[in-house]
Amino acid sequence: MQTDDVTSTQPTSDPNWWRQAVVYQIYPRSFADANGDGIGDLAGIISRVPYLRQLGIDAIWLSPFYPSALADGGYDVDDYRDVDPRIGTLAEFDHLVTALHEAGLRLIVDIVPNHSSNRHVLFQEALASPKGSPARDRYIFRDGLGPDQSEPPTDWVAAFGGSAWEPVGDGQFYLHMFAPEQPDWNWAHPDVHAEFLETLRFWSDRGVDGFRIDVANFLTKDLSEPLPTQAELDAHPRHLGNGRIDDRDEVHEIYAEWRELFNQYDPPRVAVAEAWTPANRRVRYARPDSLGQAFNFDLLRANFDADEFRQIIAENLALAAEAGSSTTWVLSNHDVVRHATRYALPDAPDTQDRDRRWLLQGDVDLVEDRPRGLRRSRAATMTLLALPGSTYLYQGEELGLPEVRDIAPDQRQDPTFFRSPGVDVGRDGCRVPIPWTREGSSFGFGSNGAHLPQPPEFGQYSVEAAEAKPDSILHLYRSALALRRQLESGEELSWLEAPAHVLMFARPGGWVNVTNFGVDEVEVDGGEILLASQPVTLGEAGKLRLPGETTVWLRCR
Ligand code: GLC
Repeated sequence: MQTDDVTSTQPTSDPNWWRQAVVYQIYPRSFADANGDGIGDLAGIISRVPYLRQLGIDAIWLSPFYPSALADGGYDVDDYRDVDPRIGTLAEFDHLVTALHEAGLRLIVDIVPNHSSNRHVLFQEALASPKGSPARDRYIFRDGLGPDQSEPPTDWVAAFGGSAWEPVGDGQFYLHMFAPEQPDWNWAHPDVHAEFLETLRFWSDRGVDGFRIDVANFLTKDLSEPLPTQAELDAHPRHLGNGRIDDRDEVHEIYAEWRELFNQYDPPRVAVAEAWTPANRRVRYARPDSLGQAFNFDLLRANFDADEFRQIIAENLALAAEAGSSTTWVLSNHDVVRHATRYALPDAPDTQDRDRRWLLQGDVDLVEDRPRGLRRSRAATMTLLALPGSTYLYQGEELGLPEVRDIAPDQRQDPTFFRSPGVDVGRDGCRVPIPWTREGSSFGFGSNGAHLPQPPEFGQYSVEAAEAKPDSILHLYRSALALRRQLESGEELSWLEAPAHVLMFARPGGWVNVTNFGVDEVEVDGGEILLASQPVTLGEAGKLRLPGETTVWLRCR
């Protein structure tokens, strides 16, 4: 089927556009660099709108592009209502919104409400103000312990390692759940509420269609004395929610406030929660009176295995229905090892092993089988795109880009690497700039190098190389996305009986997805072949011979 022909669809005012949307994440510093400073920018993204449109996605999620010292890849925001001058200007942002909308694409931007950067004007004011002042109360300051107040108020460990408290030199410490450059806001303070409502209004007024909410589960905290120890925090069963500093019920009061604002727009602005909480708690963020949708990260940790996929799919469809939302599917993002590499590693037998593969923690010697990683990636993506719900893609996965594992320590940027120290290689390997051309400076990313090193073989993964190869993964994404658009009708899914290691489900209108997760060929009932992740053949009596690690979409009547 020829699927490269894309019809222009200006976004409509359909309030449900997000339910089945395919959203493509752009990590702006690593997408396309128009001004040749080695850092991707808004002008670079604008120049690639035709590429995005041809891909066949519905929306872009733009990771932080705000002024930042880049202590955490831009998740340390200096000013929530401006653009980093290295990335562009507000005028260019407006131009991007127009260009995307004219191409029929929506735009979701990242909001980081748990912490600002330590360069934010309100944090600078807090530092310049005395202990106990109202300015300090917008963040979380506490007195140090010990005779000279040199000990942190608790033994809490920050997400990137080290103490979660930083001294400020006058006997007080401030809380940072992530890097020391990321002080946590005090959400018990009305100024913080006002600050974020203003930010959400600012971007909504500029035509932004929605928001991705960073660590949505951390905002509210019970900081009444005595504060718990780290061991006490860890002992709290997470599926119960309401930890002292995590996933508290009252966080949804904030989102209800935001929802009121979102609903003042036509169509209402949408929001998706990043909340690494157990599935039963995650759905609370997806309720219509909270953020409306939540990332489901279960597949990031799953092996390429029929039973694991089936269990995750069934559970999440049920939970989303219960919440009145649609579920989301994610295989990669800017925080985890790219799935072309994850799927190229041996399967992980236990949870600890699984986490090592997912983050490549300390275990950099694992041998990759890249053809296998690519085969499984092609099959898994087709499965995801056949599911009801919204799929989030990460830039470069449509090229089958692997994780870049051999970045020299002095070229690494991620605070995880420096604060672990070195035990966790960090997330730079999935943030290496995109190769657009086979050759040339930074493989077409920009005219003057790239801020993270691209390996020599990156040219073979480039858009140019993929365009020229009819069976490339890029062409598969384009075909699958175009077909999905035609075939999707309704959110129902029914499971069909299938042999071991095979998942088979039907969508309304006779659209059937068959995925063989095993390595051996299987025979299943056939139908009209619409698309396949690898070549498949028809066997006897209309049966379909499906090779291992392959997905096929059929029309069955
Ligand atoms: C989220 C982001 C991650 C960032 C962290 C702190 O998990 O996805 O990149 O480091 O929040 O803001």
